[in-house]
Amino acid sequence: MKTTTDKDRVVIFDTTLRDGEQSPGATMTHEEKLEIAELLDDMGVDIIEAGFPIASEGDFKAVSEIAERSKTAVICGLARANFGDIDRCWDAVKNSERPRIHTFIGTSPLHRAIPNLDKDQMAQKIHDTVTHARNLCGNIQWSPMDATRTEHDYLCRVVEIAIKAGATTINIPDTVGYTAPLESADLIKMLIEKVPGADEVVFATHCHNDLGMATANSLAAVEGGARQIECTINGLGERAGNTALEEVVMALKVRGDIMPFYTDINTSKIMNISRRVASVSGFPVQFNKAIVGKNAFAHESGIHQDGMLKNSETFEIMRPEDVGLSATNLVLGKHSGRAALRSKLQDLGYNLADNQLKDVFVRFKELADRKKEVYDEDLIALMQAGEDAANDHIVLNELRVICGTTGPQEAAMTLTIGGEESSTTATGDGPVDATFNAVKSLYEHNAHLQLYQVHAVTEGTDAQATVSVRMEEDGNIATGQSADTDTVVASAKAYINALNRLFIRRGRTGQNKREVNWKDVS
Ligand code: KIV
Ligand code: ZN
Repeated sequence: MKTTTDKDRVVIFDTTLRDGEQSPGATMTHEEKLEIAELLDDMGVDIIEAGFPIASEGDFKAVSEIAERSKTAVICGLARANFGDIDRCWDAVKNSERPRIHTFIGTSPLHRAIPNLDKDQMAQKIHDTVTHARNLCGNIQWSPMDATRTEHDYLCRVVEIAIKAGATTINIPDTVGYTAPLESADLIKMLIEKVPGADEVVFATHCHNDLGMATANSLAAVEGGARQIECTINGLGERAGNTALEEVVMALKVRGDIMPFYTDINTSKIMNISRRVASVSGFPVQFNKAIVGKNAFAHESGIHQDGMLKNSETFEIMRPEDVGLSATNLVLGKHSGRAALRSKLQDLGYNLADNQLKDVFVRFKELADRKKEVYDEDLIALMQAGEDAANDHIVLNELRVICGTTGPQEAAMTLTIGGEESSTTATGDGPVDATFNAVKSLYEHNAHLQLYQVHAVTEGTDAQATVSVRMEEDGNIATGQSADTDTVVASAKAYINALNRLFIRRGRTGQNKREVNWKDVS
């Protein structure tokens, strides 16, 4: 096996809070963004792209606060190619110990046509904006958006201009997920060979997963000479998402024999942050998702189980502990005490203060009364479901549903809304529809249901169901989640959770709503 040197270190640039959060419906609250940034910093991410400061007051505030709080990571903000964006970005990141400005412009023929600039005008704009950014900050990343569909000679020309103007990292985005591994490697190799000054900067790769090749393309780019991978937790991102951090990091760790590169990520933190991102973004992780999917380490078929019992390496190429899954799934039940719960939650990455533990313990006991065995997944669902409850505007007090084999179903419901209790009965086409109609008649709103998803947390008829609901109101999108052994109750709570989030958003006018379209590069 080839030994690695500093030259073989791959820098991890996480853009969950920018490119990931940009995904429709994945909007996070301010507090959630701070929490995710802290987890990213703790797991050893080198650079955190914390947001797009000009996009809204909320983005600016989040980037500024993350910049002030970060411990070791470089904090980066995104800016289009104009002085206003760049100045706003600098204002947001400047209080970080290690600030970076990331400025970009679309360079492919299709993207050049949007601001109606010819090649020379665009080259001049790149020179001017990168120079301006470099006069503010010593750490500048520049991206030619849609680089993989840009003519090679023009790409070389603009990369050279950006380097001469002071860019320290050149990122090569595959904005529409169009490239393939060999091409991805060759493109970086070509740039490093042809562009004067290329050896003075770090080349980065930023891939999207439209053809399912983002991880392969990112790793190939590293083979071609890139030393920064841009990625998101769970591959969160627009359309088919971005390169998944956990996939590239684990691929480099497990296959160091053929890819002699390394990252400084503490991989045992992967599961915890994956769950938190799934929870706060409202984008559940697909069961068979590599590394972090529920089934990624499950060996159910008889042959596999037999092999695993004899020697776990028979079917496992990495240990569950390497990604932060506890080796044993110690089951809790109604006789388990507070200490056992605390220790289990700590294993799962939740460090609770005494008063928080008290509250969770009550909910754990309620669950254990209804469900004989409480698994890790149940506790995670419990933690995720209980998050916003304390200060909610709308609270579910009581729900009774009558289901017959014929005729409409009926839901009798009592809610507390803004401190006042009210009740109603509503019918619907099925118990969930009746329940949602009852909420609507008690709390009038214009939000449209965009997505309704149910998953069983564990096996068995007493399993909890987790429900995700996505709702849209005047351009604001909110996702609600809940879990319960009763699917209809979980549905009601998830629906109410989404309405509560929309309520908060309405209160902070403009804070979460994007005021500019980041793709508008004119
Ligand atoms: O995909 C893309 O091109 C981007 C740029 C802003 C880097 O996200
Ligand atoms: Zn992107």
